[in-house]
Amino acid sequence: FLSCKSTFNQMGVPHFLVIPYPVQGHVNPLMQLCEALAKHGCKITFVHTEFNHKRANSAGAGPDNLKGSSRIKFVTLPDGLDPEDDRSDFNKVISSIKGNMPAMLPKLIADINALDVDNCITCIVGTMNMGWALEVGNKLGIKGALLWTASATSLAACYCIPSLIHDGIIDPDGIPTKNQKIQLSPKMPMMDTADLPWAGLSKTLFSCIVQEMKTLELGEWWLCNSTCDLEPQTLAISPRFIPIGPLMESDTNKNSFWQEDTTSLEWLDQQPPKSVVYVSFGSLAIVEPNQFKELALGLDLIDKPFLWVVRPSNDNNKANSTYPDEFHGSKGKIVNWVPQRKILNHPAIACFISHCGWNSTLECVCSGVPFLCWPFFSDQFVNRWYICDVWKVGLKLDKDENGLILKGEIRKKVDQLLGNEEIKARSLKLKELTVNSSAKSGRSSMNLEKFINWAK
Ligand code: UDX
Repeated sequence: FLSCKSTFNQMGVPHFLVIPYPVQGHVNPLMQLCEALAKHGCKITFVHTEFNHKRANSAGAGPDNLKGSSRIKFVTLPDGLDPEDDRSDFNKVISSIKGNMPAMLPKLIADINALDVDNCITCIVGTMNMGWALEVGNKLGIKGALLWTASATSLAACYCIPSLIHDGIIDPDGIPTKNQKIQLSPKMPMMDTADLPWAGLSKTLFSCIVQEMKTLELGEWWLCNSTCDLEPQTLAISPRFIPIGPLMESDTNKNSFWQEDTTSLEWLDQQPPKSVVYVSFGSLAIVEPNQFKELALGLDLIDKPFLWVVRPSNDNNKANSTYPDEFHGSKGKIVNWVPQRKILNHPAIACFISHCGWNSTLECVCSGVPFLCWPFFSDQFVNRWYICDVWKVGLKLDKDENGLILKGEIRKKVDQLLGNEEIKARSLKLKELTVNSSAKSGRSSMNLEKFINWAK
């Protein structure tokens, strides 16, 4: 590391080392941030796990296939797991990462700096769960920043954990003491304690969040992929929450872990305007067999064409995609993975049945498409609350007494949503506000410039 001429590089060009928690939902927004930084003349070294680097390359969207900016370089570190290990098991992944990567990062940084002594790394940007990288940087005298890849409200909830425990709203394991409506701060909308981002997760995961919040203190900037219009009251909680979103520098998700099916766009071209129900649950959610069956039959029942993303199980998780015998699927197209940003912006799309991951939420908001919300875990419930109750741009899909979303419910809610002109109008209005934030003189783009100037 000391081979570097100075901890400030000689050209005044910031050099960021960025390191995402290795899932698609963190890689995508971090990659978009990198493209924005590169456009401002910064240098970036992007750290992939070896496993994800290979995956993205074999999907045809990885670093070896990109003709992007020469300012973004890719390097890898092993995550410490075997290729066949189950990477959908958060505990296994995070303990392997923390057990292996911190010891290797200083050498990686030293090697990068030795190759480019006039352009040493000036700042480390980590996503959530990668606070350890900020600790490593801190020991080496390199500044750190956090890119929070979920909503600012999820960050606020995690930030408020000590006061929520103090006020008896949750116990020390994060479990709500009773079901009630609370405010994270006096001006915020009322939220249900059942929607707190850790509700339903294990004690171990909750303590992981508590630990992570301590290391994130080392981040001098907490960059949020959000806007002042989307979460105004949340962003007012702390001056540390800096909105720089929506991070959508390019309309493609580079570094996808699955190969994108571009025939879906051609298929959409053949469909009438605002007619297609798009269904996708992101990169992690697993639809259980009974639920998969109801969904398939529900899509058959709706009076609309549908585009349904059924992820293959090559990520070692147990996604079950056995179609029921009665399923026709004649009105629809089923694909493994799509260029989601382009799909949502296609004029044929009428609505999005979504798991409400934050990236999908932002992408859909920026397309002005209304939602049918089907959250699976963690921050997805916070996002559903915003979509349905705060922004009012979508409807909830309700479960029956056995915890299933039935085919009839799917049909009913699609009809209700597509017949609701107010929701459609609000979706278009929210799109306009959100897209303007990242326009040249928008608040988010000004914040990004401040961050870059600080890094300089
Ligand atoms: C995870 C968490 O599950 C989510 O709750 C959190 O908010 C972010 O990290 P994930 O479940 O994968 O993310 O969902 P999401 O945040 O929506 O990210 C998925 C990304 O994959 C989006 O950028 C989306 O555009 C992309 N995608 C999805 C595709 O490019 N093609 C697809 O077919 C499906």
